[in-house]
Amino acid sequence: MARTLTILGLESSCDDTAAAVVRQAGDARAEILSSVVFGQTGLHSAYGGIVPELAARAHAEKLDVCVRDALAQAAVCLNDLDAIAVTAGPGLIGGVLSGVMCAKGLSAATGLPLIGVNHLAGHALTPRLTGAAPYPYLLLLVSGGHCQFLIVRGAQDFIRLGGTIDDAPGEAFDKTARLLGLPQPGGPAVEAEAQGGDAARFRFPRPLLDRPGCDLSFSGLKTALLRTRDRIVSDQGGLYRRDRADLCAGFQQAVADVLAEKSRRALRLYLAENPAVPMLAVAGGVAANRAIARALETVCAELGVAFTAPPLALCTDNAAMIAYAGIELYRAGRRDGPGLAARPRWPLDGDAAAMLGGGRKGAKA
Ligand code: KG4
Ligand code: ZN
Repeated sequence: MARTLTILGLESSCDDTAAAVVRQAGDARAEILSSVVFGQTGLHSAYGGIVPELAARAHAEKLDVCVRDALAQAAVCLNDLDAIAVTAGPGLIGGVLSGVMCAKGLSAATGLPLIGVNHLAGHALTPRLTGAAPYPYLLLLVSGGHCQFLIVRGAQDFIRLGGTIDDAPGEAFDKTARLLGLPQPGGPAVEAEAQGGDAARFRFPRPLLDRPGCDLSFSGLKTALLRTRDRIVSDQGGLYRRDRADLCAGFQQAVADVLAEKSRRALRLYLAENPAVPMLAVAGGVAANRAIARALETVCAELGVAFTAPPLALCTDNAAMIAYAGIELYRAGRRDGPGLAARPRWPLDGDAAAMLGGGRKGAKA
């Protein structure tokens, strides 16, 4: 039986500073002993988006507090740890550097091994942290900076089937919220507003559905929303509550329809190779959206595929996923030294063609 591992994880690649302690006894399901997240929403709210320099400074200030709290809440000390795992990319480089430097300092002071984790691998392995999903499975990663279909075959073995050619869906939700005067992060605000809306009143485009394959696009949808909003404002002199709810509902339905149809296509490709393990997992902040999750569940039911979505707190950025990925990498023999580099770009599937676009949260991997 594999030995018990206790790993501290650090995450600072975007606008959340996070630390967590995760333990796995042998082959048992891993246990999250603590997971601390300091968000930066208030810090960036006046700027309409994340300011990388402010984010990096805030990470540098908050990381030690996060580590201290994560260790205290887990009731462990540095001596109880087996390694330190840290997000080493992809992401906003200043933030990634803050985390990597903090982890290097802790590793140098304690002699603990250092493990650099790909942020996307953290999201991609979350179904194994929460539900011990066996390999392989198809993953739809949908967040503020990323959108891709991946076959997850191992902790370091991913095949990308497709992804966004421009914006990520979370980015489109955030932009929609800004255009309609709703607070950030936009996803939860747009979802709440959409609840009372009529999704059929405005017919937004379903980008790239007319083309084969699993690539996606969301920038046209954003523009369509802007045009529709401007038309309503010029016709009636402003937006009523009803209009806002209908715009949110129509937008959300368009995103859900596109993700559902592209998931259907990705699942067909996946099932052709892996008929014995029919499973779709979803991860990333947008996975928290109930309408989108329902649309994906419907596709899975139609194709006889199991569907899994992590609980809310593990959909959005957190360090438990980084610590857990660190456990898998540690068991696979990965150790990084003081030369560990922070990487703004770090595709999971090195063999896949580079993605286009470089959204609000940095270049897409
Ligand atoms: O995974 P995450 O925390 O950070 C990135 O790696 O990007 O995802 C954050 C994104 C934001 O764009 C946020 O608006 C979106 O996830 N999000 C949602 C919902 N909750 C968060 N989008 C749609 N519906 C939601 N309920
Ligand atoms: Zn993320």
